[in-house]
Amino acid sequence: MLAELDQIQRDALADIAGIDSDAALEAARVQFLGKKGRLTAASAGMKDVPKEDKPAVGQKLNEVRAAITAALEEKAAGLTAARDAAAFAGLDVTLPGRPLPKGALHPLTQVLDRAVSVLRRMGFAIADGPEIETEWHCFDALNTPADHPARNESDTFYFDNGKLLRTHTSTVQIRTMETAPPPIRIIAPGSAFRRDEIDATHLSAFHQLEGLYVDEKVTLADLKGTLEFFFREMFGADTELRFRPHFFPFTEPSFEVDLKFHATGRESKWIEIAGCGMVDPNVFHAVGQTRRDDAYDPEKVTGFAFGMGLDRLAMITYGIPDLRLLIENDVRFLAQFA
Ligand code: PHE
Repeated sequence: MLAELDQIQRDALADIAGIDSDAALEAARVQFLGKKGRLTAASAGMKDVPKEDKPAVGQKLNEVRAAITAALEEKAAGLTAARDAAAFAGLDVTLPGRPLPKGALHPLTQVLDRAVSVLRRMGFAIADGPEIETEWHCFDALNTPADHPARNESDTFYFDNGKLLRTHTSTVQIRTMETAPPPIRIIAPGSAFRRDEIDATHLSAFHQLEGLYVDEKVTLADLKGTLEFFFREMFGADTELRFRPHFFPFTEPSFEVDLKFHATGRESKWIEIAGCGMVDPNVFHAVGQTRRDDAYDPEKVTGFAFGMGLDRLAMITYGIPDLRLLIENDVRFLAQFA
């Protein structure tokens, strides 16, 4: 029987050595170690072995089983290693990787984020309002009379129900004061719409950044200081500002703000950048009408407001020559701001 066991081990090891697939390996396991395998069959002969030889034969049986099991395991590991090596063949792990195209925020969003972060540092909170507005919020409450040219159908998009697409973000001044008492210190970035002929400096849908500060004893000096600080943060400490008297129905006095900043490689000239002024008492009266209280009594509070074109701010910041580039979404243009 010992000789038979030796023979089984030799056959098994020789078989296993020549195997090159998992299926053949499993077949070999079944053939030698399976329930009906050769080793199992041979061990059935144990009962005929003389008692004194049993320990030796039993030990041999165990040795043969261990040897075959070890050979099977070694072969299985070898097959796995060979499969891995084949999968990696021809792969050069030292090659540089393929770069992923980098995403970025739209230049308008980048400028807005910067502007908002500067104004937030000065204590302005973000407010907003609807783009589809009532004539009250867009014009009447802003002291803009019915015969004002801005209200004309040729300038403003009206809906059949009398509502309109807001022509400026100043609507948010009214919306905010109607719902919250002073002090108010808000900025309102958002879209505005006008029936403009589209060209390099005009879009019918554009973006504005509105500001409003109402409290006791707010003065023109506060307005000037706020805008000067803001534009110097945006464009550099040597940015010059000019306040030109102007007219807006909802502020009195009113100004247009020009700025001149110095950028290398660019001619510095005065650029009109914002409208602003002290909140007109009539605006406070209108708000009081809706609120039915005197929280905004112009004898008690004063305020300033400003509004600027965000698209224009982006044009100036990046030296973009044509507003339409900002809405065409040509990736070749946008990728420059990544
Ligand atoms: N709403 C004005 C415009 O669109 C800008 C402005 C805002 C002027 C606030 C004064 C105060 O032109």
